[in-house]
Amino acid sequence: MTTSATPPIQPFAISFGADNATLEPQGQVLTRRMSDLEGLFADGDAWARAVADGDPVVYTVVSSPVPEVPRELPQSITTIYPGETGGEFWMTKGHQHPDPQGEIYLGLSGHGGLLLFDGERAEWLEMSPGTIGYIPPGWAHRSVNVGDEPYRFLAVYPGSAGHDYGWVVEHGMGLRARRVDNGLRARRADNGLQARRADNGLQARPVDDGLQARPVDDGLQARRADNGLWACRVDNAARPAAARVDLVPFGAPAGKPRTGKP
Ligand code: PA5
Ligand code: MN
Repeated sequence: MTTSATPPIQPFAISFGADNATLEPQGQVLTRRMSDLEGLFADGDAWARAVADGDPVVYTVVSSPVPEVPRELPQSITTIYPGETGGEFWMTKGHQHPDPQGEIYLGLSGHGGLLLFDGERAEWLEMSPGTIGYIPPGWAHRSVNVGDEPYRFLAVYPGSAGHDYGWVVEHGMGLRARRVDNGLRARRADNGLQARRADNGLQARPVDDGLQARPVDDGLQARRADNGLWACRVDNAARPAAARVDLVPFGAPAGKPRTGKP
């Protein structure tokens, strides 16, 4: 009998609570707040403001009880909350496996991106419910929420792979993911309130019975609210599944989005 036939734990099933990402049985639960992500967003001032302004939870990681030891396959569910800091989407810290071994992610809910960097090449995989993202050995990985709801995924990884966060601090991740500025602006006009897109598209104008709002191609709509006008996405099929993402070179100045890979 080989040693692999006598694993340290017994076979077991895990129940997954999809609504709040609970596992039963459950292992460690990790909560990463904004203050845990020091030095990772390009805009350090925006990061400091977010820490001072309530230090929000950016993501949680709920693990199963499978131990991180050789030959085991631990699993965890990561939930990244929606948000932006300095225009950069909320994300995980990102890490490299000190023992270069592969890993798989399975998208469960929401919309995200899996950013991969091997020190020279950067890749971006769009992640939706049902997408399996493969992380080959030697590629550092960071997950990003590019939607307006929590992005949740399952990770399965070799128990001896490890997590090296210093590698990302030292080498970066090749790219950063920012929300494309859609130019949406709301402003007060002479005869009332007006909202419009900077380039084209959304326009809302006062009419006899109030405010005329019309959807545009990308699903944006303007509506009157109690205290004025606000713009929102239409709650129908036109609603974009995820925001448009601008992938910018890792060292690009904060607040100045540029499109394209380096
Ligand atoms: O094992 C993994 O790659 C994931 O479970 C991550 O650890 C998780 O998504 C959190 O990311 P990070 O470890 O970079 O903070
Ligand atoms: Mn990993």
